[in-house]
Amino acid sequence: MIVINFLDEQAKKIMLGNDKGNYTVPTVGLYPYQWNWDSAFAALGFATFDINRAWIELETLFSSQWSNGMVPHIIFHQSIAGYFPGPDVWDTNQVPQTSGISQPPVAASFARLIFDKDKEFGLDRLKELFPKFMASHRWFFEHRNENGMIVVNHPWESGRDNAPEWDEAMQNIDISNVGEYDRNDLSHVDPHMRPQKQDYDRFMAIVYFARACNWNEKTMAKNGPFRVADSGMTFILLRANRDLLEIAKILGEDGSEIERWIKTIERGVEQLWNPKIGAYDAINIRTGTFANSISSASFLCWYGGVENSTLLETFERVIKSSTYSVPSHDPNSEKFEPFRYWRGPVWGVINTMIGMGLKQMGHNKRAEKVRSDTAVLIAKSGFAEYFNPIDASPAGGRDFTWTAAIWLAWASPNASDFQEILGVKNGRD
Ligand code: DGY
Repeated sequence: MIVINFLDEQAKKIMLGNDKGNYTVPTVGLYPYQWNWDSAFAALGFATFDINRAWIELETLFSSQWSNGMVPHIIFHQSIAGYFPGPDVWDTNQVPQTSGISQPPVAASFARLIFDKDKEFGLDRLKELFPKFMASHRWFFEHRNENGMIVVNHPWESGRDNAPEWDEAMQNIDISNVGEYDRNDLSHVDPHMRPQKQDYDRFMAIVYFARACNWNEKTMAKNGPFRVADSGMTFILLRANRDLLEIAKILGEDGSEIERWIKTIERGVEQLWNPKIGAYDAINIRTGTFANSISSASFLCWYGGVENSTLLETFERVIKSSTYSVPSHDPNSEKFEPFRYWRGPVWGVINTMIGMGLKQMGHNKRAEKVRSDTAVLIAKSGFAEYFNPIDASPAGGRDFTWTAAIWLAWASPNASDFQEILGVKNGRD
């Protein structure tokens, strides 16, 4: 218990150390601005000890929402030398400056959890945010919807930058105009834990294409170099819509548009099922081909409220192949790399969503394994950005906001609050 209390205190210290007053940086140095889904996880963490600060985090994030409803993936509140690609590279003409793509929309789901912690305190805050959540979800349906599957226009948009599911679609991207650039990330983190140059060249080619067409969504949808349906995005938005519908009910708002969104994605999800690998997969919209990649994004189906018994078997096989659950890529695949970012390591934030989903669908034992493995990784290796799933070594940035946040909100044995709120089904296993 002493160790757990110590880790709780350390997690709070990390969050406060990364706190810039009204937003939180993911970690000092490597990520010096506000990132979209990092901030939503930060809000969940703050809610365990400072509910007002939790709402402020979400409010700051949505104060940079574009007029078309998009919530950008990075908000450059102040100019800081040493991050690439910085605001001038994105050149999106926003105040404050922002990137030009979005990130997984976890905010509405976490706002619901934060509201449930103190309903009286949160009601007015939730009311203010509701139309912004609606505009953000509407933007996804207008610009990232392919037949009910949610697509990303850039691997960064998925939050899982160099996952093997993008490899095939990335191969065909023309990099002849990319030229030279300096990557600052490699001065903070060991290169074997980060995406490779071949990935970064293509990341930049997509940014330059979108910048050249002035971030025009129609042009990017039609001719952009990258457009891939992502099971991670699809399940996260499905879940966010279910939570937004509950929020609409609480506020007495009309939920019919949200109900239509839910039905649309429920149909879309079925197309992402790849029977060949027994998992939900990514589909390259330009070619119609599956990536044939088993990743932790597939295991977000329970978080999305979708049951699939074949996927449970795949999940069992994947976690048995790894010392700690849940590796971001199948350890039996030749593409598995235990240290390299989204090609193998365990990410606490993904585990949180998988664990919440499993629990809500009644898979209690599996949910508890995901939670306790996450707790052991943090207890052994600290609040790292991600972890080697075989030997638990810490990887990426250290003193990381979202790892501290999910410790406080979910992984710590003291984190009972949200578990109770989540409306768990009677255990089946
Ligand atoms: C980075 O800088 O590595 C981020 O993932 C891009 O958003």
